[in-house]
Amino acid sequence: MTERAVEILRAILFHTPKNPFRESHPLVGFEDGALAIEHGRIVRCGDYAEVSSAYPAAAVRDLRGRFILPGFVDTHVHYPQVRILGGLGLTLLDWLEELALPEEARLADANYAATIAREFVGALAAHGTTTALIFGSHFAAATTALFETAAKRGLRVASGLVLSDRMLRPELHRSPDAAHRDSCELIARYHNRGRLHYAVMPRFAVSASEAMLEVCGSLLCAHPGVRFTTHINEHPEEVDKAARLFPWAKDYLAIYERYGLVGERSVLAHNIHASEDEIRRLGAWRASIAHCPTSNAALGSGIFPMGRHVAAGVRCALGTDVGGGTGFGIMKEALAAYLMQRVAPQPMILAPATMLYLATRAGAEALGMEDEIGDFTAGKSADFVILDPPAGGALEVRLKRAGTLDQVLAALFTLAGAESVREVRVEGDVVFEREPLSGPSRWPGPSRLRASS
Ligand code: GUN
Ligand code: ZN
Repeated sequence: MTERAVEILRAILFHTPKNPFRESHPLVGFEDGALAIEHGRIVRCGDYAEVSSAYPAAAVRDLRGRFILPGFVDTHVHYPQVRILGGLGLTLLDWLEELALPEEARLADANYAATIAREFVGALAAHGTTTALIFGSHFAAATTALFETAAKRGLRVASGLVLSDRMLRPELHRSPDAAHRDSCELIARYHNRGRLHYAVMPRFAVSASEAMLEVCGSLLCAHPGVRFTTHINEHPEEVDKAARLFPWAKDYLAIYERYGLVGERSVLAHNIHASEDEIRRLGAWRASIAHCPTSNAALGSGIFPMGRHVAAGVRCALGTDVGGGTGFGIMKEALAAYLMQRVAPQPMILAPATMLYLATRAGAEALGMEDEIGDFTAGKSADFVILDPPAGGALEVRLKRAGTLDQVLAALFTLAGAESVREVRVEGDVVFEREPLSGPSRWPGPSRLRASS
């Protein structure tokens, strides 16, 4: 009887339940695949014939010729920066002063913040991002607007009040006491409310006094399960500034370590200019890095030493870093990671499976959500993206020639933009729909793909 509640989606399916940096054969792909979901959970993922015979009474949605991937996870993105995308030609500190901080100050106006929150959350969903660790605003009301808008849309979000008490501009500064009070209120209101989670987030060490970092540490101690995020080792000028402000610290990471801010629930953005010892300690802490390749290139910050991080066992995931980055697409970010690692001083080739892992399960692991999301293992939440390449576009043309599932996935990561995202679901709920998928199937006929090597 319960089978009637089961929905089967028939499509080309990919997911990466294994970590490609540690295990072989990480890619699971089904050319004629099916995802069976019930009450927002995945009950089965596999070949259509096998899944449909397990649930013969289930409603089947025929999406053959289209693609289903796990929902994308963006581990570093700034909500107040949606309107300053495309500010090219500046380096980090000038970009902050000239573009980012003036715009962030505008969110003091709660009406403006509500508009920005809608634009931002809409853009995340439209790009297939189902879960995000979001840098909030320096203003509590604006941060509230983000949580409320994300809840309304149904996205899975960790965010919080951005904490700074120096070096920015006066209207963005809060005293450590006020920061503590506002953060406690927001935690009480939003942490673990439905799909919302709280993260403590000093902007970076440069804009946080020792007293503010102490507040961050005490918030984390008092509220287990709350995440931590900030920036680290992004640009040489910023690293120098941090060293001058914290002369006792042997390196950048030591500043955050001193206040108990580094651990399994910490996601540190960038870490480009890191010493070997910092990378080793990050691995020992089981902390994660949000790698933001388009931002790193656009702001001239540098090339992320991914190989050194992977060798030290540091967990890496992807962030768009809107608006330092170049857009909301996590698939584009995965492609940029591939491109930059290809030309890194110690180059590495990211296989299509690794790109998919970075875009999905790696983010889930960074956020401690790997038991809930990140792949299509039965029991997990039904968070997924349906991709439908526009008819006649370069991607569709390319896919006609793809000979293996690996080639299909590589083509998707190379060519699929927001225009290919047709439907996005979180826990089975539709959070974005481009237009109802009612057209004729583009199923190309019997199998033409070889099994991936
Ligand atoms: N460091 C401190 N603030 C920011 C920011 O908004 N963007 C980036 N990329 N780096 C930062
Ligand atoms: Zn950032």
